[in-house]
Amino acid sequence: MEFREVVKQRRSLRSFAPVEVNDDLIKDLAVVAGLAPSCSNKQPWRFVFVRSAGLLERMVTTLKPGNAAWAKAASLIVAVWSQADLDCRTPDGRDYYQFDAGMASALLMLAATEKGLSGHPIAGFDPEAARQVLALPDGSQVITLIIIGGQTHEISPALAAWQIAAETERPARMPFEAFASIV
Ligand SMILES: Cc1cc2nc3c(=O)[nH]c(=O)nc-3n(C[C@H](O)[C@H](O)[C@H](O)COP(=O)(O)O)c2cc1C
Repeated sequence: MEFREVVKQRRSLRSFAPVEVNDDLIKDLAVVAGLAPSCSNKQPWRFVFVRSAGLLERMVTTLKPGNAAWAKAASLIVAVWSQADLDCRTPDGRDYYQFDAGMASALLMLAATEKGLSGHPIAGFDPEAARQVLALPDGSQVITLIIIGGQTHEISPALAAWQIAAETERPARMPFEAFASIV
């Protein structure tokens, strides 16, 4: 798929077909994500690829109910975590670990899209509970969970009306003038 087509195809969908998640798939997603730029090449992103049924269930318990309803059909949940001391802090106090982990996450979602998967990032979860389920180190921060399954045209019965609308049409984007300027 051409780059622009992959970008267009990437959507935060909530309906998933079951999909087999093998080690090659996971490694491929990780390789693409790991090509992201980062401050002084610190590569502060950390990914836990959760695919076992038992752990998927436990991760779903950390989600807000509105997310758990559809995310329980996922075949893979990627916990993206980092911590400030894994990345640059500028002399004037700017931290870059979340920014850099976000860039790697974007690449991971695009790689998933290219492979016929749907990757949906969420903030609606309890980060401390997720950290404990995954036994992550003290001081680490779970930044997002990327909920992944196979792309499908069948709408999940778990969805509310507004979520069904978002399945079929991409949520509107701001016009150029609202987020960009040319000087
Ligand atoms: C940081 C972040 C947090 C998000 N949290 C949630 C969430 O908790 N639940 C949800 O259904 N979607 C969540 N989303 C998905 C956004 O709603 C979605 O990206 C946005 O509506 C644009 O739609 P699109 O990704 O299909 O283009 C989140 C996205 C991002 C980047």
